[in-house]
Amino acid sequence: MRTTRTKKHLISERVARLSPSGIRKFFDLLSSMEGVISLGVGEPDYVTPWHIRESAIYSLEQGYTTYTSNYGLLELRQELSRYLQRMYGVEYDPQGELLITVGVSEALDLALRSILNPEDEVIIPDPCYVAYASCVTLAGGTPVSVPTNVENGFAIKASDVEARITPRTRALLIGYPANPTGAVLSRTELTAIADVAQRNGIVVISDEVYARLVYGVEHTCFSSLPGAKDNCILLGGFSKAYAMTGWRIGYAAAPGEILEAMTKVHQYTMLCAPTMGQMAALEALRSGEDDVKTMVDDYNQRRRLMVQGLNNIGLACFEPKGAFYAFPSIRATGMTSEDFAGRLLSEERVAAVPGSAFGQCGEGYIRCCYATSVPDIEEALHRMGNFVQRHSRT
Ligand SMILES: Cc1ncc(COP(=O)(O)O)c(C=O)c1O
Repeated sequence: MRTTRTKKHLISERVARLSPSGIRKFFDLLSSMEGVISLGVGEPDYVTPWHIRESAIYSLEQGYTTYTSNYGLLELRQELSRYLQRMYGVEYDPQGELLITVGVSEALDLALRSILNPEDEVIIPDPCYVAYASCVTLAGGTPVSVPTNVENGFAIKASDVEARITPRTRALLIGYPANPTGAVLSRTELTAIADVAQRNGIVVISDEVYARLVYGVEHTCFSSLPGAKDNCILLGGFSKAYAMTGWRIGYAAAPGEILEAMTKVHQYTMLCAPTMGQMAALEALRSGEDDVKTMVDDYNQRRRLMVQGLNNIGLACFEPKGAFYAFPSIRATGMTSEDFAGRLLSEERVAAVPGSAFGQCGEGYIRCCYATSVPDIEEALHRMGNFVQRHSRT
C-alpha cells in the first residue's frame, strides 16, 4: 500500500516548531505599501565608506577570488588581534583564538552548536535579539529567559541569572548594547555576571556587535574582565559600526579549544567567509576609525531627537545609551504592541517593530530604529503624535 507523506513530515520537528521572526512577518506586509516611513529595519542608513568599498574592488582587480584559510585571512586576524588589544586591552592569538565568520549570525550559531549537548539550557535576557532563542533551539538546546525591565534600565541582573542556573545550564548569552532596548551594561554589572558564570562553570557568549555604538559611556568588553576570558566566547562584527551589513563579515574570539570546535563546524558548513568582504574588513580596521566616529556622532544626534520626541508625544522612553534603537512604552494607549504597530502602520504609515517580537517582556513597547534621516524621524514623530492623541485612553 502506498503511504502519502504530508508536508508536515517533510520538515524536521525542531524547525517546524520554530515560529518565524516577528520582524519578518511585519516587513513582508510593509513592502507592499507606499509612503511608509520605516523605523523598523535594524541597520545603518549609511552606505559603506568609499575607501572600504574601493579596497574590495581593488582586491577583485588583483584577482583575490579564491577561498581563504578556514580561519579567515591571516592578515585580517592579525589586524583584529591588534584592534581588540588597542580598544579593550584583551589579547587573542590570531593563530587559534580568532575565527572570521559570515557575520555575527554565523558566529552565534557556531558558538551554540559547538558547546551544547541535547537539552542543555542557555540563559538569555527577555527582551532580546530575535535570533537568540531560535538559535539555541536549532542547536538542540533549551532557552531559559531572564526577565528584564525598564526600572533596571533593561539590564540583566547577575542575581536573576544565578536564580535560573540548573545542572543543565551550559551558557549565558548576552548582547550589549542591546537590541531591541539600546541598554548597555556597566562594568560593575558585568563583573557580577562574570563572577556568577565563573562560580557556576558556565560559558558566557557575549554578542558585542554594537560595541562601537555607545553614547557618553564606555563599552566594556566581557572578556577584558578579570578571569572572564577563559569561559567567554566573544562575538563581534563589521555590520553596524562600519555600515557593512551586506558584506556578511563577523568574528568569534575564544579560548583555543572552543575556537577549534567552532572552526570544525565552520569548515564543514561555510568553509570560509567571503574573501572580498574580508579584504573590506581589513581596510575598515586599518583606516575606518574616522568613519566610525562620524557615524556615531550622527547617530547620537538622532538618538536625542528620537528619545525627546517620543517622550514629548506621550510615549515614555528610557534613555538608550547604545546601538540605534529607542524602546518606548505604548501602555498609555492600552493597545498590545502588535496592535499598536499594526494600526500605526495602516493609519499613519509609520513602521516600528512590536516589542513582543523580542520576548514576553517586550510586550507594551515598540522598537524604533533611529538610523534614518532627521526629516524622516521628525515626520514619523509627527505622525505618531497624531496617532497617540487619537488613541490615548485619558
Ligand atoms: C544583537 C545582534 N546580534 C547579531 C546581529 C547580526 O549581525 P551580523 O550582521 O553581523 O550577522 C544583529 C543584527 O541585527 C543584532 O542586532
